[in-house]
Amino acid sequence: MKFATSILELIGNTPLVEIPQSLAGCRATVLCKLEWTNPGGSIKDRLAKYVISTEEQRGRIHPGDTICDNTSGNTGIGVAMVAAAKGYRSVFAVYDTTSSEKIDLIKSYGAEVIIVPAEVAWDDPGGGYMVAKRLSEERGYYWLNQYDNPLNPEAHYADTGPEIWNQTEGKVTCFVAGIGTGGTISGIGKFLKEKNSSARIIGVEPQGSLFQAIHAGRPLGQPHPHKVEGIGTDMVVKAFVPKYTDQVIQVTDNDAFLAARLLTKTLGLSVGGSTGSIFCALRQIRDTLTVDDVVVILSPDAGIRYITKFFSDDWMRRHNFKLEEDMIIHV
Ligand SMILES: Cc1ncc(COP(=O)(O)O)c(C=O)c1O
Repeated sequence: MKFATSILELIGNTPLVEIPQSLAGCRATVLCKLEWTNPGGSIKDRLAKYVISTEEQRGRIHPGDTICDNTSGNTGIGVAMVAAAKGYRSVFAVYDTTSSEKIDLIKSYGAEVIIVPAEVAWDDPGGGYMVAKRLSEERGYYWLNQYDNPLNPEAHYADTGPEIWNQTEGKVTCFVAGIGTGGTISGIGKFLKEKNSSARIIGVEPQGSLFQAIHAGRPLGQPHPHKVEGIGTDMVVKAFVPKYTDQVIQVTDNDAFLAARLLTKTLGLSVGGSTGSIFCALRQIRDTLTVDDVVVILSPDAGIRYITKFFSDDWMRRHNFKLEEDMIIHV
């Protein structure tokens, strides 16, 4: 008999599925990595497992401890799942822009949720970052601190990067991922560039976010709120290491949502809004790709987390988003 002895053993080894050329808009081989097949439903399961087990080995997390973090949802779900499986308590400061589906999922693992406003400065005492910091300082909780923790990119350098390299038999030439904390792109980017220095690493963020300016070394300017969940920043974060990314592309909320709806309706590939953004960024670089390119685009989570949001026509109309989905490009 072959079976896992814990849900944690089922994290990783996620599949790749090809995106047809008519949708990708280019002749390259485009492979979408389905991170939502992880048991907690997103790429953040990997981070949660890696950070908690590393910190246990270092003696920084002990039996009976409580783990906390600030999150737009997926890290909360991943950490709550790993905490439940290992017998820890967990508490999360979750931004009020997070879908109710994600908030309910975090609670279902027995975790505590504190809702915090998303549209305040990062150093506002009521904001997610400062609430999580205070929980750790005043109550002694282990603050995972995904935005600044070097173990975040390290998790993807150790795990997700080699997985992509092996799955593509070393043929990957371009990798496209969203940037939220920057952990995914920095860890995978570092690994792929060490293997092949000409591999292109493309980051994606919503319009109004600061990663493009951070990457270019430009003055940061004023961040603007956005509706796509999981990507974008209003502050400089240590998990994003600019030298492992070649280019940062910005995508509007509306385009991201339409792309996610299109992938769902035309391929049966139900994805979240950040995957929609990544797909739009792929479209933006399609003229630079040739038939010899192997592009991996990363899908962090699935559409089921956003049924009450951009998959709802009412929600789209209420937020003045267009509903046209005619995005097929013939090559
Ligand atoms: C849906 C979604 N997409 C993309 C990301 C970005 O990943 P990272 O934080 O590693 O940059 C996140 C992170 O929370 C996410 O939740």
